[in-house]
Amino acid sequence: MQIVLLIAMVLISCTSAQRKEINTGRSSNIKPEKTLIVYLSRTNNTKAVAEIIQQNVGGNLVALELETPYPEHYQTTVKQVAEENRIGFLPPLKTKIDNIQKYEVVFVGFPTWGMQLPPPVKSFLNQYDLSGKKVIPFNTNAGYGIGSSFQMVKKLCPNSEVSDGYTVKGGAERDGTLFVMEGEKEVEVHTQVMKWLHTIGLVK
Ligand SMILES: Cc1cc2nc3c(=O)[nH]c(=O)nc-3n(C[C@H](O)[C@H](O)[C@H](O)COP(=O)(O)O)c2cc1C
Repeated sequence: MQIVLLIAMVLISCTSAQRKEINTGRSSNIKPEKTLIVYLSRTNNTKAVAEIIQQNVGGNLVALELETPYPEHYQTTVKQVAEENRIGFLPPLKTKIDNIQKYEVVFVGFPTWGMQLPPPVKSFLNQYDLSGKKVIPFNTNAGYGIGSSFQMVKKLCPNSEVSDGYTVKGGAERDGTLFVMEGEKEVEVHTQVMKWLHTIGLVK
């Protein structure tokens, strides 16, 4: 009788462990505490992708904030970014990341700005040494693609293993379309992100 009870208990605990894995999708070899997800997001589209990644991989989710935020006005921001890119200005970050050495995997998320990597993300990659870590870029854009942004991540992380990135069409602030990651779009992006995470070996 005791043996039957023991077998039943083992079976129940296995099934609930399996169920947990399916629910969270977390079956990566990387420990969540060794994963950092850093993102820049103005209208929350990239943030939404970052949250999907965190829900499925775990890890610390950190928004990049500036000491001096960009103006609210879109065209003024576009002009400022173009000038920053032209002169190579790296805007100082308000966000500070403690103990970056402890992370093995660093996701870096950003929108395309002026067909480039946004200056604050250049600041981040310039300020923190990600040598020896796996760096995983992801992006949202208004439909014009990643431009030179993924290439720039590689250039600024010469001693990191830079994975194939994920990119998806997000908002188009220029046309007044801000946040789009809801409803069917959110479901579609969730599916794509899971497929990508599987391809790069972050979830089984
Ligand atoms: C300053 C600025 C420049 C942008 N430049 C581009 C661009 O060159 N190509 C593009 O496809 N989208 C561009 N966009 C649109 C954003 O990439 C797009 O809306 C993205 O989804 C915004 O992400 P977020 O909601 O996380 O801020 C630009 C947006 C801003 C604010």
